[in-house]
Amino acid sequence: MLLLGIETSCDETAAAVVKDGREVLSHVLYSQERIHRKYGGVVPELACRQHAAVISEVVATALEKAGLDFRDLSGVAVTQGPGLMGALLVGVSYAKALAYRHGLPLIGVNHLEGHIAAVHLENRTVDLPAAALVVSGGHTNLYSIPVDGPLKLLGQTVDDAAGEAFDKGAKMLGLPYPGGPAIDRMAETGDPTRIAFPRPHLKKDSLDMSFSGLKTALRYYLERSGFPDTRTVHVPDVAAAFQQAIVDVLVEKTLSAAEQCRVKTVFVTGGVAANTALRERLGEVCRTRGLSLRIPSPTYCTDNGAMIAAAGYYRMIRRERSPRLPAGAALTMSPQVAPVMNESWFTGIEP
Ligand code: KG4
Ligand code: ZN
Repeated sequence: MLLLGIETSCDETAAAVVKDGREVLSHVLYSQERIHRKYGGVVPELACRQHAAVISEVVATALEKAGLDFRDLSGVAVTQGPGLMGALLVGVSYAKALAYRHGLPLIGVNHLEGHIAAVHLENRTVDLPAAALVVSGGHTNLYSIPVDGPLKLLGQTVDDAAGEAFDKGAKMLGLPYPGGPAIDRMAETGDPTRIAFPRPHLKKDSLDMSFSGLKTALRYYLERSGFPDTRTVHVPDVAAAFQQAIVDVLVEKTLSAAEQCRVKTVFVTGGVAANTALRERLGEVCRTRGLSLRIPSPTYCTDNGAMIAAAGYYRMIRRERSPRLPAGAALTMSPQVAPVMNESWFTGIEP
């Protein structure tokens, strides 16, 4: 089954063609980073204008790279939320029009469902049950994924998402947007042990997390130490210590989730899962504990079209469809986000 996946929920215009939910035939991404960088964050109005300007080209290139024509496709999957409303509207409208024009099934996909489905892209088999951490700019959620049956939300951030903490922390340190990759790079030459930032663990047995206190601790530290005077503040050390605090919390809570669910497989996905220190630490602790870690390669951790096609595949094989654009009808998007987190979207995975 060949699915085209389209993603426009934030600042990446992405499209990919994926075979049977696993094999990426093409993957094209137009990043708007350069446009939003001078504003220090995503400007929604600019994001949706830019999506509209490049989406045709991005989709056409994805098909061309895969050596396919629209006629070869089995369906079109598109992110329908959560995300920036105007940005989503561009992808959904485009996908609806494509599906209608070429008589293809349309599958609306939840963005977080897409991030989780990314674990299938480079794995022939994925063992279930599993515990999953979805950690991005908008979410920091822990799920239990059973062999069959609904996903269960085990815990989440009670304030900022981990990616948001990276972005805000980077801004305070004068690093460019997006902050996560900037801190990741800066931390490479830093010593994470020189500054003690708090690890906001909340209650011991709770799987909820909090990152806003850490951001405040960074602000106080910078004020106290005379930032931006680099004679008193060594930015790589601050970046490394700040990053380590986030990594420690994410790793500890993910391990607790695996323990509570008594599972041997751990999924970690979403933009922050591209973080070098997080990947290394997870690799170490999972090896020590005999856990099998499923973490997509960095390209498929951050927003991309392939993860949407992968998630769409599982909906397709369950015969789920979204309404296509009827002739002459207004371009409207269902305000309802796919109720994926309370249904068994993993049903149908082949062993
Ligand atoms: O999943 P994603 O691409 O978009 C959302 O769904 O939010 O995640 C974007 C987030 C941003 O906050 C970005 O700073 C963070 O992921 N991020 C990283 C890294 N790469 C992206 N955070 C830490 N280290 C990275 N290498
Ligand atoms: Zn995302």
